[in-house]
Amino acid sequence: MSQKQQQPLQSLIWKQEALDLLDQRLLPEDIVYLTLTTATEVWDAISSLAVRGAPAIGIAAAYGVVLGSTEQIEEQAWFNKIIDTANYLATSRPTAVNLFWALDRMKACAVRIMEQKLSLIEAKQLLEQEAILIHQEDEATNRAIGEHALTLFENDMGVLTHCNAGALATSKYGTALAPMYLALEEGIHLRIYADETRPVLQGARLTAFELQQAGADVTLICDNMAGMIMAKGLVDAVIVGTDRVAANGDVANKIGTYSVAVLAKAHNIPFYVACPLSTIDLDTPTGDKIPIELRNDNEVTEGFGKRTAPQGIKVYNPAFDITPNEYVTAIITEKGIIRAPYEQNLRQLFE
Ligand code: MRU
Repeated sequence: MSQKQQQPLQSLIWKQEALDLLDQRLLPEDIVYLTLTTATEVWDAISSLAVRGAPAIGIAAAYGVVLGSTEQIEEQAWFNKIIDTANYLATSRPTAVNLFWALDRMKACAVRIMEQKLSLIEAKQLLEQEAILIHQEDEATNRAIGEHALTLFENDMGVLTHCNAGALATSKYGTALAPMYLALEEGIHLRIYADETRPVLQGARLTAFELQQAGADVTLICDNMAGMIMAKGLVDAVIVGTDRVAANGDVANKIGTYSVAVLAKAHNIPFYVACPLSTIDLDTPTGDKIPIELRNDNEVTEGFGKRTAPQGIKVYNPAFDITPNEYVTAIITEKGIIRAPYEQNLRQLFE
C-alpha cells in the first residue's frame, strides 16, 4: 500500500552555464546528477538514456542549444552555430517528435534574434529564455493533461501503465502519470499497475520508483502478466504516454505498448494515451512512417551487467512500437480529450 510521500525528483535543473541532469540509468539505486556544460554532453546523455522520455529529451536538447552557443563569436557565425548545434542534437534519437519540436523552436528563436539585430549578450539571453520557457510550459501542460485525464478515473479504479511517462520523463507530473499525481492531491485512490517494461525496465526502475516515492498505491508486474491481471478484472483502464502521434491517431510508444493495447481491447478495457500537443506530428500521416529507433543488442542480452542470452545470438531490439488508432479509446492533451475520428479531431486542435 501507500508509502510516506516525498517530493518528486526533478529530472532537469538549469543552472545558467550548466544543465544538471538526473542520471536515470542509475535509478532507483543511486540518485546522481550529471553536470553538463556542452552540447556534446547533452547529445550523449540523450542517446545513452541518462535523460529519457519525450518531453524531457526535448527540454534537454533546448538547453543543449544554449550550451552550444556560449562561445564569443560574431553574429552570423553565432547564428550558424545555433543551427548546426540544433541539427546535431536532432541526431541523438529518432522517434520522439518533441526533440525536433523543441529544436525547431530554438531555431525559430535564433531567426527572430537575428532579425532584431541584438548584441550577442542580449541574443544569448533570449535564446536561454526560450529554453527556460519550453521547460516551464511543460509543467503547466502536464497539469492540464492530468486534470482532463482524471475525469476518466474514479475512486478505487485499477489503472495499468507501461514504461515511464511520469515526472522523470518530463519537467513535472508527467503525462500518463499526471492524473495519478492529481488523484493523490485530491484523495482519490487508484490501484496502479506498472509494467516492468523490458528490456530497459523504465516501469520497474522509474515508474514504480517515482509513484512509490509519491505515496501512490503502485504494484509492479512483469510485462507478461498484463493479460492475466486484465482477465482477473483488476484493470479498469490503461493509460500510457507516447513519443509521437501520427496525423491519423496511430501512436508510437515504448516497445510492448501495442501488446497492451491489443490485450485491453480483448478485455473491453479503455486504452488511453496522454500527451502534449508537441507530441502530435501532423506531418507524419500514419504510424508506419514514424522512425523506430533500434537499440543495442546488449540491452536484451546483458541488461544491467548480467549475461542472460548465449554469445552470438541474433537480437532484434526496437525501442518503440506502433499502436494503430483503432485500439486508442482517447488521446488526452492539455486542450482536452480527443476521440475518433482522429484525422479530423487532431487537426482541429491546431486550428
Ligand atoms: O526510451 P524512453 O525511455 O525514452 O521511452 C519513453 C517512452 O516511451 C514514454 O512513454 C514516452 O516518451 C512518453 S514520456 C511522457
